[in-house]
This record gives sequence, C-alpha cells and structure tokens, in this order.
Amino acid sequence: MCGIVGYIGDKNGIDIVVKGLQRLEYRGYDSAGVAGISAGKIQIVKKNGRVDVLRQTVEDVKFSSHVGIGHTRWATHGEPSDINAHPHISHKGKVAIVHNGIIENYLSLKKELQKKGKVFLSETDSEVIAHLLEEVLENSAGDMIAALQIVQRTLVGAFAVVILSVDEPNLIYAIKKGTPLVLGIGKGENFLASDGTPLVQYTKSVIYIGDGEILRLSANDFQIYNSDIQEISHATSVLEMEMSMIEKDGYAHFMLKEIYEQPKTILDSMRGRIAADMSEVKLGGINNYAPQLYNANRYLFLACGTSYHAGMVARYVFEQLCRVSCEVDVASEFRYRKPVIHAGDAIFAISQSGETADTIVAIEEAKHHGANIFGICNVVGSTISRVSHEGAYTHAGVEIGVASTKAFTAQLTVLYLFALKIAQSKGTLTPAQIKQYCSELHAIPDQVSEILALSPQILEISKSLKDIHSMLFLGRGVQFPIALEGALKMKEITYIHAEGYAAGEMKHGPIALIDEFVPTVIIAIKDSNYLKVLSNIKEIKARKGKVIAIVNKGDDDIKGIADFCIEIPETSELLAPLLTTIPLQLLAYHTANVRGCDIDKPRNLAKSVTVE
Ligand code: AGP
Ligand code: GLU
Repeated sequence: MCGIVGYIGDKNGIDIVVKGLQRLEYRGYDSAGVAGISAGKIQIVKKNGRVDVLRQTVEDVKFSSHVGIGHTRWATHGEPSDINAHPHISHKGKVAIVHNGIIENYLSLKKELQKKGKVFLSETDSEVIAHLLEEVLENSAGDMIAALQIVQRTLVGAFAVVILSVDEPNLIYAIKKGTPLVLGIGKGENFLASDGTPLVQYTKSVIYIGDGEILRLSANDFQIYNSDIQEISHATSVLEMEMSMIEKDGYAHFMLKEIYEQPKTILDSMRGRIAADMSEVKLGGINNYAPQLYNANRYLFLACGTSYHAGMVARYVFEQLCRVSCEVDVASEFRYRKPVIHAGDAIFAISQSGETADTIVAIEEAKHHGANIFGICNVVGSTISRVSHEGAYTHAGVEIGVASTKAFTAQLTVLYLFALKIAQSKGTLTPAQIKQYCSELHAIPDQVSEILALSPQILEISKSLKDIHSMLFLGRGVQFPIALEGALKMKEITYIHAEGYAAGEMKHGPIALIDEFVPTVIIAIKDSNYLKVLSNIKEIKARKGKVIAIVNKGDDDIKGIADFCIEIPETSELLAPLLTTIPLQLLAYHTANVRGCDIDKPRNLAKSVTVE
C-alpha cells in the first residue's frame, strides 16, 4: 500500500518527488505529502485527498528543496486527513520520515515516548518512528547509521522508511523490512521509490534494497549497510520499464489500456516458452528445481484476490492435465488454518505485485515445512520472486489500474504452460495432445482481439446496469473462478454488490435473490457443463431475472432466451477462461464508466497490499 519517493540532487527535489507520487498514486491515494529542507529547517506540505491537491498547494507556496521525501497514503492507522498524512516530523524537528507499512508495536513505543515528553500530532503508527529516531540519535551522538540500526531492531512490523535529517541536509537515509524499496542511481542525483514507476523517467539503473538493510544517499554516492552495519555491495539491475508503459497512451483509463493490451501481453507471457513446432513447452526459470516440480505429490496454489482466481483455474487445469492432487487457498487464510504441508509439496505463489504481505507470509509458512516454492510474479525483482525457490515471470508489463486485468490473463497463460510442462514430463498427455494445447494457446491472442471488438455492444449492455444494486455471476467447472473474477471486477470498480457463485450452487440458495432487479451474468459456452448451465438460465428466466450470457458464436438456443448474449470464439474447455474473462472485464469497465466511478482508483483500494 502507499508509495514513497526520495530525491537528492541538483534539481528541485519537491517537484521530482511530487511527480513521482503521481506515478505511485495507484498504490494508495487518500492523502499525500512532501518534505524538504529550506532555510535550514525541515518544511512539510501535506494534504488530505489526491496527489493533485498536494501538487497545487506545493506550486502555490513555491516549495523548493534540493532534497525531498514524499508519500501517498493508504491509511491503516488514523483516518485520511492533513494531520495523519505523511511525512511526520520528530518532536524537536530534527528528522522527518515517510513510512510504508504497519508498525505493530507502535502503541507501547508511543506510551514510552510520551512519558519522555514527546508530543504526538497524528493518530498514525508511523509517527513513532520519527520520535524514536530523534531520541535514539541523541543517544548515539548523532550517528545516523548506528541510530537506524537500533530503530530497525526496535520496530516490529513491516516498513520501508525514508528519512530526512536537518543536521545532514545533503543526505537521505532509508531502512526497510518487508515492504519494497528501490534505489535509482542517476548522474549527480539519486532516487528512492516504492517501485520503478517514478524512476524510469530519470534512470534505468536500480538496486532492490533487501530487508534489514540501511541506506545512505547523497547526490553523487550511496552506501548500503547490512543489519550489523557492515557496508555491502549490490549488483545494479536494469529497470525493465519504458515510459510508454506507465502512460495512458490515449486511453481514457489505465484499466482500459490494460484490457486492450491483452492480445500482446498474453503473447508476451508465452514468448520463447513454446517450441516453434508447438511440440513442447520450455520454461527457462525452472532449472535446479525441475525434479521437485515434476515429481511433487501435491500442488498447492496460494494467492489473494484476482491472483487467487488464477490459482483456482489452475487447480482444475493441473488436476485434469497432470493427474496430481491440487489445492488452492487464499493466502491470508493459509497460515491460520494450520495447514498440513509435506516436505516436497510444490507451492505456486501467484502475485502480480510480488509484494502482497499475506502471500509472503504464506510462503514463509510453507517454506518452513520444506515445501518448494514456485513464484509466478509480474513485477521483476519483487519480494515474492526473490523468496521463491524458482518460478516464472508473467511479462504482462506494468499494471497500473487497481483492478487487475492483463496480469490475470498473463498468470493464467503461465499456469497453463506449467501444467503442460508437467504433463509433458509425467506423460499424462500424449505428444499430440500437447501439440493441440500449444496450438490453441497460440491462437488465443487473436481470439482476444476478436472479443475486444465487441466493446461497443458490451457498453450498451452496461447502460442497462447503470442503476442496479446487486447482481450474480455464475459459472461452472473451470468457469466458476471466472464468475468469481467477473464479480470481483464488477464490485471493485462499480461498487455494485456482485456475487460470484458456482452455477450448480444457484439452486442451493442464491436463487432466492433473483427477481427483475437482480441481473445474472452467466458463462454458458459449449463445454461439458453446457446443458446444465442452460437449465440454470431457464430457472432464472422463470423467476423474471435478467440474463447476460457469455456464449459461443452462433448459439441460437441461448440467444432465444437470454436478455443479452455476448458471443465469443471457441477454444478447448480448459483454455476458455482466457476468453470468457475478457467480456467480463469490459462489462465491469463500461458499467463503472456509465456510473461515473473513478475506475483506476476505486475507493478504499490500493494496488499493492503490503500489510497483513
Ligand atoms: C484485483 O483486481 C485486486 N485489486 C486484488 O484482488 C489483487 O488481485 C490482490 O490484492 C492480489 O494482488 P497481487 O496479485 O499483487 O498479489
Ligand atoms: N501505517 C501508516 C499509516 O497509516 C502507513 C500506511 C501506508 O503504507 O500508507 O499512515
């Protein structure tokens, strides 16, 4: 959650930091602030609301400083307000901090610091960091690195903290544990940010800071220390990002751009991974752990939200193609149900951001019991990609819309490739079947383009949903997770209450909701469940429910009964989620648009959920 930026160099750091916060706004956007040093003092401007409100204020007061730190918040402790916005300053005004994460022991620290006379201005957990650091600095004769070591050890929770000190105006400092922080190395200027999006405009040379590390940055240099204060060196990485990836490129919203990118991103996810003659799948990221992957007695998929839905699809696919027992779990529940994990279980940790705290904790639990972790992440260099034993990137490119779209279809694509690779190694599919699946996968991007061309028709359907309060999404078999995903997209960006259900479960309860005001979106393509789903449609119509059906091209039977039909091309049953999910994304998008919702920044959400 939240985005932090730091800058030190010869330009106006405040401008650069505010621009950076605009790039990071998708990570959290309830309030924002910036601090710099001018006239020998730490100056702070912070505002409730979007970064644009901050930008305007900063321009009005002509705030400038060669050094700056900034924050765009997703509140955990204390409501969004000017006071609770970051940066927070210490009691004597010596240091200011911005913090991403949660300090779990903040209450006890706050009490101790209050006893020592420190006055707290905000309700946040983060403010303790500023007061604590000032206090420890006084006892460390002003040695910031030594003080940060103590602070780092004292804080319990997850944090990336960037610090400005009035006594060292030509330096910024940072500490990190559990939430991401990237150093961008420029010429005569250096940057810090929660991810690469604010950096790409200035530099592609980056270092991903590790947990427990302490960082000192000047305009021309930087030092990284481990938790024992020994200086360490990190190889620099090249930021795999282009400016065009983080701009809307003429689209009204990032979400729409990302939906439209899918023919390309699905192709990118399979690029180089399918032999030219379609005879085999090659996964470069699986080397040392290949035997553990192929011979596992059980596959377990752990993820949250949309990524969890990708895991649910994978369970159907892996069970059927690889004939191995599979489980899927919401990462945030996994640890707490005291799961039985066997050494040698293969765990797929699926995450767009690679920073989801719940998924990271679930991985730690599984690793502790000897499981092998295969990470499927979109963000290169992210925490999950680093803590996994091996894995594969999804290569969907930067996803900025808070509602995940192209990352989901990229995850599905990579999971299909894993399933085919394992089936190939186990011999559970014949070479002819492998070839068939590879060819069909290869045809998917063009089929997705065909579905995208239905956007005007889907917009018309969305107009009929403008004033709806509640709706159902139904699917059966491998389409059940797609119904859940369709409902999630709808509720996230339109705020319509949307429930996803297994179509077979409808008669066990949700049918009670159906009347002329509760429409149902139902996935009714010609797969092995077609006739049963057709019966569901009849049952809904018998109760005056409106039906929006996703069907295969030329399905006149359903056309005769449903209120709206969205006709999509055919592929094999297990691959069809890659197609059926596209109209549901467009349906959610257009409905949100006709309802006037803030599509890229839906209320209360943040792109990357870095707290448990
Ligand atoms: C998707 O639209 C969501 N905003 C959310 O459910 C997301 O999928 C979830 O938080 C997991 O994120 P991750 O893939 O980055 O781990
Ligand atoms: N816990 C802090 C707060 O509520 C930081 C939240 C964030 O990461 O935005 O202010």
